[in-house]
Amino acid sequence: MRAPFAQWLGATNDITRTFLAAGQIPDLINLAGGLPEPSTYPVEALAAIARDVVERYPQQVLGYGPVEGLPELRDALATRFSSASLSLDRTNVLVTSAGMQGLDLIGKVLLDSGGLIAGQFPTYLGALDAWRPRSPTFRKLRLDGPGFEPVSALAGAQFAYTVPNFSNPTGKLVGVEMRQALVDAAHHTGTWLVEDDPYGGLHYDGAPAPRMIELSGRRSPGAPYRGPVVYMGTLSKEIAPGLRIGWVVAAPEMIEALSLAKQGADMCTSGLTQRIALAAIEAGLIEQIQPTLIDTYRRRRDALCAAMAEHLGEWFDWDVPTGGMFVWAVARDPALDTDRLLTHALAAGVCFAPSSVFDAASAYKQAIRINFTYNSPERLAQGVRRLAGALRTMTTGS
Ligand SMILES: Cc1ncc(COP(=O)(O)O)c(C=O)c1O
Repeated sequence: MRAPFAQWLGATNDITRTFLAAGQIPDLINLAGGLPEPSTYPVEALAAIARDVVERYPQQVLGYGPVEGLPELRDALATRFSSASLSLDRTNVLVTSAGMQGLDLIGKVLLDSGGLIAGQFPTYLGALDAWRPRSPTFRKLRLDGPGFEPVSALAGAQFAYTVPNFSNPTGKLVGVEMRQALVDAAHHTGTWLVEDDPYGGLHYDGAPAPRMIELSGRRSPGAPYRGPVVYMGTLSKEIAPGLRIGWVVAAPEMIEALSLAKQGADMCTSGLTQRIALAAIEAGLIEQIQPTLIDTYRRRRDALCAAMAEHLGEWFDWDVPTGGMFVWAVARDPALDTDRLLTHALAAGVCFAPSSVFDAASAYKQAIRINFTYNSPERLAQGVRRLAGALRTMTTGS
């Protein structure tokens, strides 16, 4: 008999793999993933940069590099996020193999088995996946719920986890007062406050509020940053996910701890993609692509919401998100089981992300997350019509 697999595997799900595999099913309309529109990838610019960096820095891009990341990229990121009140240098920056690795490393350095996470609820599924091997306990932060009290919400947790800009899965923006209250509570309680920010650049109606790490820096303007906010970013949504480049910006003691964990994870992020990322950032590629992304995604959001208003209003309520990639729709009938709906939807040729996967206990089944960035307006409308058909089949049997 073979040795058994670790116990946590029995408590997980393979929904992410299912979503990625859904892309291979012919004619399925995939509204589940958080995928960018592939035609926005800056193919020619990246191809030229890639060739250039291999020729100019062959040893650096093809060899092993420092665990913390390419020094020049760390410097560029420190400069990018510094401001009059937030003073950063490379000791505040760790380059990661995209955002997912940042989440994984945070779990490794902060969680012992059964540790307590105060997590914005509902919670990004990839974060739940990353931390599951530690069998953490979750305190649900309902930031817009009645009577939410930040100090008691954060006290005693190993860390708090938030996605303040156009959250995954809800698409919601956390307002500046709540950001300030969370930052104050983190300073007061000493709890690390993770600010996961893949979507901050994707805003369609006005700009997002200041970053929490910025608000934290304002408490001692100009001093080297030592505060409790652990800011995480990625190039996945603003340039291309295949680069697998992300970063953590935090107090140097946190960067050192994360580097120790990274050493045992992948030793270093690819030197090739780090050099490509540095050249892309220096050339202003993010800023060049951003208007196209915003314009494309705003039109898709509007198309999705118009189709939803026409076909899904009978069953669901939702807010139109002001940025990001998702609409979060909550069933009017609390008994509507969106796990069951997914089975009907797949049969009708459409898929979405059911709310149970954003709950560590898999118990919340009343909502669905619909992505609007990956499909054309026409496909979005067709997907919504198929979903309405699946709802009709499920609720009336016809
Ligand atoms: C909230 C959040 N954090 C992190 C990530 C990780 O993305 P990546 O590993 O591609 O940077 C995602 C991806 O969808 C996300 O939605």
